[in-house]
Amino acid sequence: MKPFILKVPATTANMGSGFDTIGMALKLFNEYEVEEISKGIEVVGTENISLENNLVYSSMLRTLKKYGHMIDGIRICAKEINIPINGGLGSSAASIVGGIMIANQIMGNNLTSHDIICLGTEIEGHPDNIAPAVLGGLTVSIYEEGNITCSKVKVPENLRFAIMFPTFSVSTQHARNVLPALYSKSDCIFNISRVALLIAAMSNGETDKLRMATEDRIHQPYRAILIPDMNNVFSHAKELGAKAEVISGSGSTLMAIIDESNRDFQEGMQKYLDTLKEKWVVKVLEVDTEGATIK
Ligand code: HSE
Repeated sequence: MKPFILKVPATTANMGSGFDTIGMALKLFNEYEVEEISKGIEVVGTENISLENNLVYSSMLRTLKKYGHMIDGIRICAKEINIPINGGLGSSAASIVGGIMIANQIMGNNLTSHDIICLGTEIEGHPDNIAPAVLGGLTVSIYEEGNITCSKVKVPENLRFAIMFPTFSVSTQHARNVLPALYSKSDCIFNISRVALLIAAMSNGETDKLRMATEDRIHQPYRAILIPDMNNVFSHAKELGAKAEVISGSGSTLMAIIDESNRDFQEGMQKYLDTLKEKWVVKVLEVDTEGATIK
């Protein structure tokens, strides 16, 4: 096996109304340099994480085991870790997809994107970050009985995604535990209509419909208590001309959808974030259309 560079994008799940279904890849990457060595497994550059707890390593090993493949030695060097851990930008999905793709490379590259998404979802538990991390773009995914059906949706080129991430994190498990077990029929209809509109609005470039299309009654109202200042940040984003505001995944990152022409958003938002008790940073990103790559 020749040495290679693996790049995996950050992903934002849910986009408001599409809980556990919609995900989108963003141009913010973790990058690894991988090479075969004569003996042993070395994972370097991922400080304070033991091998057992390293998701890249454990996902690689699980995939190799599943296909009955052995390795003598491999060195995985994390060159750039830009995706915040536990931040709602798919850091675990990026590590899982990274590990499976390394295994795939070792095994001769026979797994399809669909295989990688199925394996990744088996490890992660839900497909919404895994599918866009593999395929890039905006994806709709359904996971049923171990199989994934997913479809990629066009994202208007003039959209940009402002991510506002605080120094505190929110555990996905905790953010799932705060959700009710059952929902009313009216709340289900509310979200079904919004998520259908989200796909239509994205496909048709009707970006003025995104505010309504991202409205949600399934998870965001319950998660607001986990993210201090969420509603204030959302109000401020709206004042700065955002088209919509959502929690990225299960948080703590918040995301505003803006037009590329909204050049003042980042500075205006950072100024506002600097007045808050917690430290927050805003970055404006483009959609990544490629997904994870090996070069
Ligand atoms: N759809 C998941 C959730 C994403 O909101 O719990 C978590 O990364």
